[in-house]
Amino acid sequence: VTAQVLVVGSANADLVVAADRRPAGGETVLGGDTEILPGGKGANTAVAAARLGADVALLGAVGDDAHGSLLLDSLRKSGVRTDLVRVVPRPTGLAFITVTPDGENSILVSPGANRALRPEDVTSALPGAEVMVVSMEIPLATVEHAVNTAAAAGTRTILNLSPVASVPEPTLAVVDLLLVNQHEAAWLLGGSEDTAVRTSELPGLLDLGPRGAVVTSGARGAVVVEADGLTEVPSPSVDVVDTTGAGDAFAGALATALSGGAALTDAVEQAVRVAAFSVTRRGAQPSYPTVAELR
Ligand code: RIB
Ligand code: NA
Repeated sequence: VTAQVLVVGSANADLVVAADRRPAGGETVLGGDTEILPGGKGANTAVAAARLGADVALLGAVGDDAHGSLLLDSLRKSGVRTDLVRVVPRPTGLAFITVTPDGENSILVSPGANRALRPEDVTSALPGAEVMVVSMEIPLATVEHAVNTAAAAGTRTILNLSPVASVPEPTLAVVDLLLVNQHEAAWLLGGSEDTAVRTSELPGLLDLGPRGAVVTSGARGAVVVEADGLTEVPSPSVDVVDTTGAGDAFAGALATALSGGAALTDAVEQAVRVAAFSVTRRGAQPSYPTVAELR
C-alpha cells in the first residue's frame, strides 16, 4: 500500500452519552440515549484526511464484531484505504464518552483490539508515504517503531501525543512535528495536565527532541513552535456543540496540507479551520468536513 498519508493509531466504537454534568467518584448521573459512533484517534485522523481529499491509509486493528464493521464502513465510505486494518480475535476498542452541554467531553478508552497492533505491522506499510501521523492508544513499542522506521525512510513524521504519555527520548528526537493540546504540553513541560501553560514556555517542547511542535488550545487556535520562533494561529469563533475528536480532525487536516506541499503555518491555519468546523457538529468522524463543506 502506497498512500500519501499513513495514519498509525487506534479505532474505537464511541459510546456517547449526553449528560448535564459528568459523574464524580461514587456518584450516579442519569444521561440521554446512547449513540454508537465510529471513533478512535487513528481512525478519526484518517477519516478527516480522506474527507479533505488526501490519499490515506490507516494502519490499525479492529475486532471481528459489529463495532469493527461500523469502523470499517465509516473508513471506506470516507475513502480511507483499509488494507492495513487487521481484524483480530479481540473486541474492537471502545470509548465511553460523556458530553456535557458546553460541548466538553470526557473519555474512558478500553483498547481491546488496538492492543494487537504490533511493531512488525508497520514495516510493510511505510514505503512511499509522504507523511505519517502516529497517535497513542496503541502499544508504545508500535508507536516507537513507527516513528523510527518513518524517520529512517525519510517520511515526515507527526506524533500526536494523545493521550499524553512519556515516549523515550531517542524516539522524540527523530519526530518532525510533535502535536499536542495545551494540557498535554503542560504535562510534557513538567506540570500536571491542569496547569496553565504560558506561550513563552512552549519552546521548551523542542528540548524534548522534535524538530517542531504544534500546540492546540481549543477556541484560541494553535501555536506553531519552531527553532526560530513562535507563530500564533487564531481560530475562527464558532458555536461549540461537541469537541470530541477535534484534535484528530486537526491532525488529519495538518497531514493533508503538509503532504500537498503547504508550508507549516499555512497547514496549521487549514487545520485550525477544520477543527473549528468539527466542533459545530456532534460526534468525531460524523462531524468532519469535506472540502466543499469547508468553503
Ligand atoms: O479523540 C477522540 C477519540 O478519542 C474518540 O473518538 C475516542 O474513540 C478516543 O479515541
Ligand atoms: Na464534533
